[in-house]
Amino acid sequence: MTQNFISISEAIKKAKGHVAVRGWIYRERGSNKMKFLVLRDSSDLIQCVLARDKFEKQWEDIDKLQIEASVELEGEIKEDKRAPTGFEIAVDKINVVGLSDSFPINKDLNEELLGDRRHLWIRSRKMNAILKIRSTVIGALHEYFRSKGFYEFQSPIIIPGGAEEGPTMFEVKYFDKKMYLCQTWQLYAEAAMYSLEKIYCVAPSFRAEKSKTSRHLTEYWHTEMEVAWANLNGLMNYAEEMIKYVLKKVLEKNKTELEILERDVKKLEPSLKKKFPRVTYDEALKFLKEKKKMNVPWGKDLRTIEEEKFMESHETPVFVTHYPKETMAFYKPKDPKNPKVARCFDCLAPEGNGELIGGSERDTDIEELKKSLKAKGEKLEDYSYYFDIHSYGAIPHGGFGLGTERLIKWVCGLDNVKDAIGFPRTMTRMSP
Ligand code: 4AD
Ligand code: MG
Repeated sequence: MTQNFISISEAIKKAKGHVAVRGWIYRERGSNKMKFLVLRDSSDLIQCVLARDKFEKQWEDIDKLQIEASVELEGEIKEDKRAPTGFEIAVDKINVVGLSDSFPINKDLNEELLGDRRHLWIRSRKMNAILKIRSTVIGALHEYFRSKGFYEFQSPIIIPGGAEEGPTMFEVKYFDKKMYLCQTWQLYAEAAMYSLEKIYCVAPSFRAEKSKTSRHLTEYWHTEMEVAWANLNGLMNYAEEMIKYVLKKVLEKNKTELEILERDVKKLEPSLKKKFPRVTYDEALKFLKEKKKMNVPWGKDLRTIEEEKFMESHETPVFVTHYPKETMAFYKPKDPKNPKVARCFDCLAPEGNGELIGGSERDTDIEELKKSLKAKGEKLEDYSYYFDIHSYGAIPHGGFGLGTERLIKWVCGLDNVKDAIGFPRTMTRMSP
């Protein structure tokens, strides 16, 4: 090859003249006079045509090329409205880099088989588009928090005890002891908040939930923040601004990918422009009863079906606040105005996507914390460090956690959160 390689999208931008590109064969067809290869690289696709009379010596090899063989080629690029991406390269040189066996991915495979062959399916246009959007989302989350003066703080993954729900923790054999994989960074984050005041992370969390739903992973990327001197409204302001920032970035940077995914972006636009409603749990119950004929007994957490019914009437995320204190994690403080409810929120996403974010102010009243922990059957000694954190200059503070894959699922319009990550882990999917 005589020329510097450029990406397929750069070649298309160039639109004419001589170009050299390289990648993998996405489609191939031909006759004994012509071979049409659609080439893919990470950036795009392009049709390439090889005329037999230019390649008499190589023809046998060219004719044998199969999907996913890797090649370098060069030739003249020109516009061709019939070609898949509107351009075609008339090839004058080709170099076969790696041959391919018959590629075991085709459109007849079901979800399960695509899952088994995820290591190859990840090359698909669909996964390529999702993973690009995922990269934008995670980049935007970092940008957002850093632009607001947050420090990135990392907490341990292997931890001695819980925070959310004991039964849903993965045990780890740790030499001759039992440890767990973290479900949240929160208890460590609260300690670090007393040093750094505004912190965030994007890191894996683990949940041994026996839920085979379209929104549960056992390993997911948890975007969490913790902030000093914060109250409930302040936390929701951050959450709303963060989501709007991410949406804006994806709509700016990933038009092509959203098109590939056939995402109706009009459905995302209201969330950029409109303020997200804030309603209390009590108001949500009233709405469900009056408008959806669903009777949720006061004190029960909202189930998926109830969240979905509630969200049918909304085109942006909605914050539901002040859930019953008793059903909530021990660290969510009761509301002084109504001690039966906690100063917490869930942010629910539209289009059937359910809970995106959970957050709250944090209780710093050590006696209250002990009472809640006891009621949940926890051993107080496991939390002595946590009481210690709030024994030296406790302040009002709070934070939230976003299920990053759930946000990606919504943004991309996916059916299942499994597709929002390269190699998903669920109750039934452990490999590849
Ligand atoms: O509501 P959760 O359990 O809240 C916490 O863990 C808090 N300690 C966060 C904090 O305040 N720092 O989890 C937060 C979010 C949920 O709203 C959901 O989006 C996501 O994490 N999540 C899951 N995502 C995928 N798969 C699962 N199994 C998830 N469990 C929770
Ligand atoms: Mg939650």
